[in-house]
Amino acid sequence: MIFSENRFPLFRIVTGTHIGCETTHCGACTVDLDGMSVKSCTVFAVQAQGSDITTIEGVANADGSLSALQEGFRMMHGLQCGFCTPGMILRAQRLLKENPSPTEAEIRMGISGNICRCTGYQNIVRAIQYAAAKINGVEFQEAAE
Ligand code: FES
Ligand code: FES
Repeated sequence: MIFSENRFPLFRIVTGTHIGCETTHCGACTVDLDGMSVKSCTVFAVQAQGSDITTIEGVANADGSLSALQEGFRMMHGLQCGFCTPGMILRAQRLLKENPSPTEAEIRMGISGNICRCTGYQNIVRAIQYAAAKINGVEFQEAAE
């Protein structure tokens, strides 16, 4: 954290966003920039100047409790090593803002730019379905196998 002379934070250094491929392929670095999911590894700082950026540090509820998506990833075991998780949650958050009731196919298409090497995606999809149900105030129903 960097402080001004009056001890007001000027900016906070955040470390939650992961860098994977650095070539816009893996999605580990996904953040929300002015209402769009972007792979931040290939966004120049000058391109982001003045933009509204959300990283994983900004997704919890205002009172510090877990957001619906964070809770979904926790409850549905949507992560193993967690390396892809910050980018995956940021991407899923934007997906649910644009489409609060996605079908499974829409979820899979929506996260297709984010690679997870651990989970096989099943639990990530379930985590997003869990969050969508919570956001819509309905009970989460597991799809029949
Ligand atoms: S680090 Fe892989 S897409 Fe940015
Ligand atoms: S949880 Fe390990 S890469 Fe996704």
